[in-house]
This record gives sequence, structure tokens and C-alpha cells, in this order.
Amino acid sequence: MSSLYTHSLLSHSIAKFVMQKIVFCGRLVLILAFFSGCDKEKVSEDAQITLGRELFHDTRFSSSGEQSCATCHPDGHTDNRKWHFPAIHDSSSGKPDSLKTLTLWGIAQTGPPYLWSGRTTGLYEITKLYTDTIMGGLASHEELEALVAYQKSLVAPSNPWIRNDGELTMEQQRGKKIYETKGFCSPCHPAPTGTNGFVKDIGTGGFFKTPSLIAMYSKSDFFHDGRAKTLRDVIHFYIADPENKLRDHDFIINLSDQEISDLIEYLKSF
Ligand code: HEC
Ligand code: HEC
Repeated sequence: MSSLYTHSLLSHSIAKFVMQKIVFCGRLVLILAFFSGCDKEKVSEDAQITLGRELFHDTRFSSSGEQSCATCHPDGHTDNRKWHFPAIHDSSSGKPDSLKTLTLWGIAQTGPPYLWSGRTTGLYEITKLYTDTIMGGLASHEELEALVAYQKSLVAPSNPWIRNDGELTMEQQRGKKIYETKGFCSPCHPAPTGTNGFVKDIGTGGFFKTPSLIAMYSKSDFFHDGRAKTLRDVIHFYIADPENKLRDHDFIINLSDQEISDLIEYLKSF
């Protein structure tokens, strides 16, 4: 007789089942098994972070009962989509209709300020803003503290664009040079997080926080309103191209096709 084990990441438990029978009906697989016990996983994690992770995935705070923080921030990252939140969006940012979800990976290193408007400096305050408004439910002080602790524990997983030995590829090295010199990117986007935390008007229609560049390789729909689909579109915004509809800013740079490709390779290494 064989056993089946399931692992619950949220409750840190491992359940054991004794398998009786497996029935295949087309694409449906029926498993008949008896529950035979549950073990708490031994974790060294802070209990507050564990509670925060549970709450982050809990739909209890949403008025529809369907949404959790993780709906838009899967694994704490970004769903790469735009959302319309009149309760949170700040009109000083040029009244955007909807804003792209920001990643929470590395937030302990990158923030404050928070939100595209950069108007919020406390992670507790913005977490409360979310539970009170968009989600429509109320969280206790203890729950908010736990959600903050969980968010601060979020870091990006290892980057598949970085070589195993940690060295940059030839292309990435060339891109880094452009980034730091003629591309003029590093003053606003300093490594390793890629943000100086400043709120700037770079010609995208208002003042916006310089976003972190963490896990660039996994993102799409860039800028606060997602106007640039790809990293190439982002670079095109920054370079002088008279045909470019996105171009409406005052620091003009010139890069060849090869230099643009190298710069993209380097951006993906963040
Ligand atoms: C419906 C989608 C959605 C849900 C649900 C959601 N968020 Fe967000 N989140 C966003 C968007 C969009 C932004 C950017 C909004 C802005 O800047 O005004 C954002 C931004 C943030 C930021 C700011 C990050 C930074 O770097 O400035 C934090 C913190 C945050 N969310 C935490 C949460 C928490 C905690 C929850 C659950 C209580 C939550 N979010 C639920 C979409 C969502
Ligand atoms: C003067 C400061 C400044 C300079 C210089 C600058 N940026 Fe930015 N960058 C910003 C701000 C502010 C935003 C957000 C604008 C918005 O969303 O409307 C941004 C957005 C981005 C984004 C989109 C990130 C996302 O998650 O949506 C990328 C990628 C980026 N910049 C790369 C670069 C590169 C590459 C260079 C150099 C060629 C550069 N930036 C130069 C301030 C700057």
C-alpha cells in the first residue's frame, strides 16, 4: 500500500494519506485515500511572517470574498496588469485612469516612498489603505503588523539571466557600461535595486516614483500606465527618435541597435 503526502505552504503542515485505489476516467483521475495524520513542518520562520503570508493569500478582507493581496501580487510580485483605484490613486500624479501593479519583491530594500505617486512613506499605512478601501474589509492592528512583516520578508527568487558563477555575460557587461555612462540611467536607477527613491516628471504625464528594476526579466507593460510593452519600448522612450510617440522628455540620448540590445541584456540582470 502506498502513501500520498501533501504539503501546505500556508499552514506549514504535511498531511499523510494511505492510498486505496486510483481510477482513471478519461482526463479525470479519482484517488481514494484515507487521511492518516498531519504533521506541522519544522520551520525557523518568524510566526508573524507566517501569519502575514496567510493573510496575504486570504480573501477574507475583500468585500467580494474573491480577492486577496496575492491576486494582483502573485508570490508578492506583480501581475503586470493595470487597476483602477480611485480611493488610492493620487490626482497629483496627473490623474491616471489606472496604474500598473508594483512588485513587492525587495520592498524592504527599495521603499519608502511607496506607490507610483510616492506619497506614502509607511508600509503599515499603505497596507491599511488596501484592506480598508479596495478590499473593503477591516484588518486588526496585529494583522496589519503581520502583513507588513511578510511583505518585508519578500525577496526576488534567483535570477535565471545571471550566470551560475555570478559574472555578467559580455553583452551584460557592455550594457552595464552604457547604463552607467552615455545612457545616463544609473543616477536615477542605481544598482542593485535600480531606484533612488525620487519622484520625478520624466515626461510620462506627471510625477512618478522611480520604480525599482528588481526582476526586470519577468515584467512587462512598463511605466505607471503600462504604455511600454517591452524593455525595447522603454529604451525607445529614452532615446531620441523623431518618430517616437512616447518621446516627450528633455534628456536625449543616442544609442545604436547593438547598444540597445546590450542595455536590455543588462536590465534583465537586475
Ligand atoms: C486589484 C489589485 C490589487 C490588490 C488586490 C492589491 N494590490 Fe497592492 N498594488 C496594486 C497596484 C495597481 C499598485 C500600484 C498603485 C499605486 O501606485 O497607486 C499596488 C501597490 C502596492 C504597494 C506599493 C509598492 C511600492 O513599491 O510602492 C504595496 C505595499 C501594496 N500594493 C501592498 C498590497 C497589500 C498588502 C495588499 C492586500 C491587503 C494589496 N496590495 C492588494 C494592485 C493591487
Ligand atoms: C531622471 C531620472 C531617470 C532617468 C535618467 C532614467 N529613468 Fe527610468 N524611470 C524614471 C521614472 C521616474 C520612471 C517611472 C515613470 C513612469 O512610470 O511614468 C522610470 C521608469 C523606468 C522603467 C520602467 C520600470 C517599470 O517597472 O515600469 C525602466 C525599465 C527604466 N526606467 C529604465 C531606464 C533606463 C534603461 C534608463 C537609461 C537609458 C533610465 N531609465 C533613465 C526615472 C529615470
